[in-house]
Amino acid sequence: MRGLFITFEGGDGSGKTSQINLLKKYFEQQGKEVIITREPGGTVISEKVREIILDINNTEMSDITEALLYAAARAQHVNEVIEPAIKEGKIVICDRFVDSSVVYQGYARQIGIDMILKINDIATNGLVPDLTFYLDLEAKIGLNRKKNQAELDRLEVEKIEFHENVISGYRELANRNPDRIITIDATLTVEEIYNKVVQTIKGRY
Ligand code: TYD
Repeated sequence: MRGLFITFEGGDGSGKTSQINLLKKYFEQQGKEVIITREPGGTVISEKVREIILDINNTEMSDITEALLYAAARAQHVNEVIEPAIKEGKIVICDRFVDSSVVYQGYARQIGIDMILKINDIATNGLVPDLTFYLDLEAKIGLNRKKNQAELDRLEVEKIEFHENVISGYRELANRNPDRIITIDATLTVEEIYNKVVQTIKGRY
């Protein structure tokens, strides 16, 4: 039986990682096999591409190069890790997927949604998540959380307007895909968010 493909989306600092780890435990307690992975990354090749994309010194990178590199990292990830795991009946939980490209490159960089979908359709061979959790948080709050954590990468150092556009993009995308994308208020506590995630899962599977 085919497994499940669940993704988490959100602006920088929206708390995806904690929820991904909690959801993994939830499924494992039920005896399910789970892998967690992330984008850009998840394979040796894709992690190398990630380094190029996020390197703060790569100031010359054009928007279309950026979009293609995210898609290239994703193509390898889908082919080598995600699709085989789903075929083996596993549950794959991924930190970011095509929605991130739609929002960051399509909306915020203004490449256009159609172009991003076209590139990514090739990269993913049409793979769409079964379910996506979008952790909604005002850009300013997310960035403040990040600043306290670690060194910022090439996208995180973008102007606040860029990050505000990312959030508007996510909200619009979630409104257009209400069956697949579940929006959760990321100002709630970790436990409250987790309860909402589990409620959704129980309601569907
Ligand atoms: P990451 O460290 O994964 O950020 P976070 O921990 O906030 O998820 O960095 C990935 C960055 O790349 C993040 O700023 C979002 C951005 N991104 C895109 O612009 N397009 C994409 O397709 C993906 C997957 C990520």
